[in-house]
Amino acid sequence: MKTQKRLGILTSGGDCPGLNAVIRAVVSHATLTYGWQVVGIPYATRGLLEVKAIPLSLHGLDLRGIDPLLSMGGTILGSINKGDTLAYVDELMAGYQALELDALIGIGGDGSLAILNQLRNKGNWQFIAIPKTIDNDVALTERVVGFDTAVNTVVDALNRLTFTASSHDRVMIVEVMGRTAGHLALHSGIAGGADVILMPEIPYTIKDTCAHLAELRDRWGRRFAIVVVAEGAHIPEDSSNYASCEKPSCGIGQLIADELSNCSHKQIDIRASVLGHIQRGGIPSALDRLVATAFGKAAVDLIASGKTGQMVAWQNGEVVAVPLEAVLAKSPSLVDPHNYLVETARSLGIYVGNHAAA
Ligand code: F6P
Repeated sequence: MKTQKRLGILTSGGDCPGLNAVIRAVVSHATLTYGWQVVGIPYATRGLLEVKAIPLSLHGLDLRGIDPLLSMGGTILGSINKGDTLAYVDELMAGYQALELDALIGIGGDGSLAILNQLRNKGNWQFIAIPKTIDNDVALTERVVGFDTAVNTVVDALNRLTFTASSHDRVMIVEVMGRTAGHLALHSGIAGGADVILMPEIPYTIKDTCAHLAELRDRWGRRFAIVVVAEGAHIPEDSSNYASCEKPSCGIGQLIADELSNCSHKQIDIRASVLGHIQRGGIPSALDRLVATAFGKAAVDLIASGKTGQMVAWQNGEVVAVPLEAVLAKSPSLVDPHNYLVETARSLGIYVGNHAAA
C-alpha cells in the first residue's frame, strides 16, 4: 500500500504578496512532518489541463541557505485570472488522475475557490482551500493572505501624496482596487489619513463630497485633501456623467476629479492617481507572512487528518477550518455600512458617504 502522499498545490486568480510564503510553509510542513512529496501545478487549472507538475522540495528552494520564498511577492507557480475552466471538466479530471495526486491545496479568492470547489465535487478530490485576495472579501475569515501588504502599499502612497498635496494646496484623488468590496479603500483610507473614502457599498453624492472639502478648507483651514475611492464605487446620481460613463473604462477616480473641479467652479486644484497593480506587488508584510505560514501549516494538517472541502480561516485569533460551501454562500463579503470602522471614520470627520442612504 502507498504510504507517501503526493500533494499538489496551486495558486489561482489575481496574485498578491504572500502566496510564495504559503507554498514554502506547505512544502516545509508536508515534507518535514509527514514525509510527503509536494508538486506545484503551474498556472492553476491550466497545469491540470496540460498535465504539468513541478516537484517542490525544501532543498530545491534553498539559495545558499537562504529561502527566498518567504519574502518574495507574486507566485513562483504562476496564476490565471480568467478562463473558461469549467468547459474542460472532463479533461481536468483526467489531468488530476494523470498527475497521480492524492490531495490538492488551492490558494485563491472567492471566484477561484468556487470553480475549484465544483471540480472537487465532480472528482471527489481531497481538497483544502487557502484564502487570498487584496480585496479581503472572502467570507468567514478575519484575515486573508495579501490584504495587509496591499493596505500598507496604499498607505505608503497616501503618505507620499499627502506631502505633495500639502505643498501645492491640492486635492488628491487616489483610486484603489476593489471592484465589489471597499475594504482596501476603508482600511487604507483610515490608516493613511484620508479626508474622504468612497466605496461600492455606501452611496455618496458629488454635492456632499464637495461640501465636505469646502468645510475642511473654510472652517478648519485645511488647504489640501486626500480622497480615496475604490475602483468599484458607483457613479453618483448627481454626476453629470451618470448616464454616459460606463465602467470600468470610465475611471471613477478621474470622474470624481472632474466633478469636484466643476462643483468648486475650478477653484480647487485637483490631481488623480490610479494605483493599479502596484497594489498587488511588493514584498509581503510581516502579518501576511505570518498568516500565510499559519494557513499553509493548517492546510497540510487538514489533509493529514483526511478532511476535504474545507477552507482554513482566521477567527478570533486562531486558525480554524470552515466548510468551503459555507464560505462561498456568503462571499463576497462586503463592507457593512454600519460596521465599527465606518463609524470610526465618521467620528473622525471623514466623509464616507451618506448616513441615511446607507
Ligand atoms: O480581485 C483582485 C483584484 O486585484 C481586484 O481588486 C481588481 O479589480 C482585479 O483583481 C484586477 O484584475 P486583473 O489583474 O485581471 O486586472
